[in-house]
Amino acid sequence: MDKIVIAGGIPLKGEVSISGAKNAALPILAAALLAPAQHTLHNVPNLADIRTAKRLLENLGARFADGPDGLSVDTRDLTSWEAPYDLVKTMRAAVLVLGPLVARLGRARVSLPGGCAIGARPINLHLKGLEEMGVKITLQHGYVEAAVKRLEGAEIILDFPTVTGTENLLMAATLARGRTVIKNAAQEPEVADLARFLQAMGADIQGIGSDVLTVHGVKQLQSARYRIMPDRIEAGTYLAAAAITRGEVTIRQAPVEHLTAVIDKFIEAGLRLKVDQDIISVRPGGSLTGVDLKTMPYPGFPTDMQAQFMAAMALARGVSVITESIFEKRFMHISELRRLGADIVVSGNQAVVRGVKSLQGAPVMATDLRASASLILAGLGAQGQTEVHRVYHLDRGYERIENKLSALGATIWREKA
Ligand code: EPU
Repeated sequence: MDKIVIAGGIPLKGEVSISGAKNAALPILAAALLAPAQHTLHNVPNLADIRTAKRLLENLGARFADGPDGLSVDTRDLTSWEAPYDLVKTMRAAVLVLGPLVARLGRARVSLPGGCAIGARPINLHLKGLEEMGVKITLQHGYVEAAVKRLEGAEIILDFPTVTGTENLLMAATLARGRTVIKNAAQEPEVADLARFLQAMGADIQGIGSDVLTVHGVKQLQSARYRIMPDRIEAGTYLAAAAITRGEVTIRQAPVEHLTAVIDKFIEAGLRLKVDQDIISVRPGGSLTGVDLKTMPYPGFPTDMQAQFMAAMALARGVSVITESIFEKRFMHISELRRLGADIVVSGNQAVVRGVKSLQGAPVMATDLRASASLILAGLGAQGQTEVHRVYHLDRGYERIENKLSALGATIWREKA
């Protein structure tokens, strides 16, 4: 298995451009299944999760072509309605085909995702919402079997604003008979990006970006062309990289309006930065001070930035209390950060980080995508050499991360196993 090696302690300097958002591209690829047509997508990031999503759609009968005009997805001839265990176990977001398949074909067979490194992550809210739309759900041999003659509009109140749950129900509702209202919907920008793609396909959706989505079902959706939004978590990760190395970094194509909570936290911690349209410029100098934070659904501080922010706090002055309120097991990076010399104590869903003067490079093991990013950041801030093992986690969600960091002056390389 590949590893990434970093010789840390170098302040980053230069410019980096943000790629398309993984968590917007994944539901948008699934949404392409809703209309028998050829769609064109721009700014699709080149990531392992996107390749898995393509394989999943190809299994269902979709065809892809990469061209100068973007990625074309042809979903005219579907040949299957099944998302097999092999694919769902490598990428939970594969469950996003459930809504589109029942809406288009009236049936779907999707492997139940198991628990994962960051928590149990059930899909009960996806299933409950679909049942409210008239879908008959049975669980058999580890698979969700879903069947419906015609989806019926419904009023759905989500117990929790689940991101992919909202997306599955939103996609299903576009082809349901009548009106669907999804209350306590997730307000994450990626849900809004999906909704705008669905609008481009001809869906009738109101309340985009809010916690109440109202959908008037239409008979059929059409071919669409769409540009995926930039990745706010990738942008936040480079912000953290600049912060931890006390660097001078310009982040281009940053979705600034979706990063408010993250930018505000870094400013509170003492990072000097300037925002101008879609450019964030981090100024050099200034030291970081520990600040408290709690992860929340959007517009709160994103759980997907918790591990990276913690790495920065490990080298800040003073104490930070970091509370993870979305996933019950998303602290796996802490024991590895400790191997680099971080002073972090965990109690339940709270981590108390006492900033240290320096971290020292060491071999560490990545456990999930954002934990990997956190370890890369800590390695950049540490003295000496850090080896991050199991980088396949990183490749799921960061496009060419070692190239982008090298271009910023980091000494970082990948070693093939
Ligand atoms: N939950 C339930 N029942 C459900 C659905 C969710 O109890 O039916 C719980 C989960 O167990 C969790 C909480 O609700 O405790 C939030 O989960 P959510 O469903 O919102 O997460 P998700 O849709 O599975 C997406 C992102 C994650 C991101 C979370 C939270 C995609 C493909 N994935 O997951 O991204 O952390 O929202 O913002 O959009 C990542 O990119 O590294 C990543 C993990």
